[in-house]
Amino acid sequence: MKNYTELSDIKDLQQLITEALELKKASSSLEIGKGKTLGMLFFNPSLRTRLSTEKAGKLLGMDVMVMNAGSDSWKLEFEDGAIMDSDKAEHIKEAAAVLSQYCDIIAVRAFPDLNDKEKDEAETVLNSFKNYASVPVVNLESATGHPLQALTDAITITELKKKDRPKVVLSWAPHPKTLPQSVPNSFAEIMQKLDVNFVITNPEGYDLNPEITKNIPIIHNQDEALKDADFVYVKNWSSYESYGQKLSEDRNWTFSAEKLMQTNNAKVMHCLPVRRNMVIADEVLDSENSVVIQQAGNRTFAAQAVLKRILEEKV
Ligand code: CP
Repeated sequence: MKNYTELSDIKDLQQLITEALELKKASSSLEIGKGKTLGMLFFNPSLRTRLSTEKAGKLLGMDVMVMNAGSDSWKLEFEDGAIMDSDKAEHIKEAAAVLSQYCDIIAVRAFPDLNDKEKDEAETVLNSFKNYASVPVVNLESATGHPLQALTDAITITELKKKDRPKVVLSWAPHPKTLPQSVPNSFAEIMQKLDVNFVITNPEGYDLNPEITKNIPIIHNQDEALKDADFVYVKNWSSYESYGQKLSEDRNWTFSAEKLMQTNNAKVMHCLPVRRNMVIADEVLDSENSVVIQQAGNRTFAAQAVLKRILEEKV
């Protein structure tokens, strides 16, 4: 694995999941990353991604450096040929090249603006790092994807499933803000690589990018979709069709105990952070059906498996 910026960088998903679960079971430190440095750059806030990836690097013996881009560092210019007379003091060409002098792997988080679909889909920040860094690049959630979260989710489902082909439902839920489609995009992509019966349920106007969802059934009636579900992944996202907009805050879509009753005693997943009683009700998050903490715990082993792969290929 040279980079981990998208799910297609994984050539053997089942093997990577197995490896992550073995790392979890072994729960011990390795030496493969000794003398190597992971540099993480955050253009947006984070709790899980930041700490689990730092922990993963350290479990591999790596040194880890973290920087909040823009506030800790100089503001970066990404435009080629720009006359740099604004508040952006450093060009990505120098920044990525210089970071590559200090780091053996660079990991980047950069959310979309949700104003301009074309611009967000160009993945300018992530791709600029890929273009101008001379070391591998890892995606810590970009404009359109969150592949480390998706790998975690696949690990969690593999670990918890009680039948060969469980039914997995990705359900939209209301939220007061407009959120990216990155997490549901990557979840939809990785579910197509697992042996699961996968459906998506969301209100009209909230269908994800059809180039990602391909032939996945999209059901606009949540109650119908939830029937017989073994796993329900609850998540808000803004509209893709009316790009970046909030079309609904319909609390009938909040995942409640009543909704849970319609499933096959489903395990309830969410990437976190979650807004209680808006996205998922207290009684569900506080029940035995909720696996959100275990899911968050698996972030470490997903990141560890990915970083280990990159280090193995590099040495
Ligand atoms: N799920 C996730 O990426 O969490 P953070 O935004 O806290 O990193």
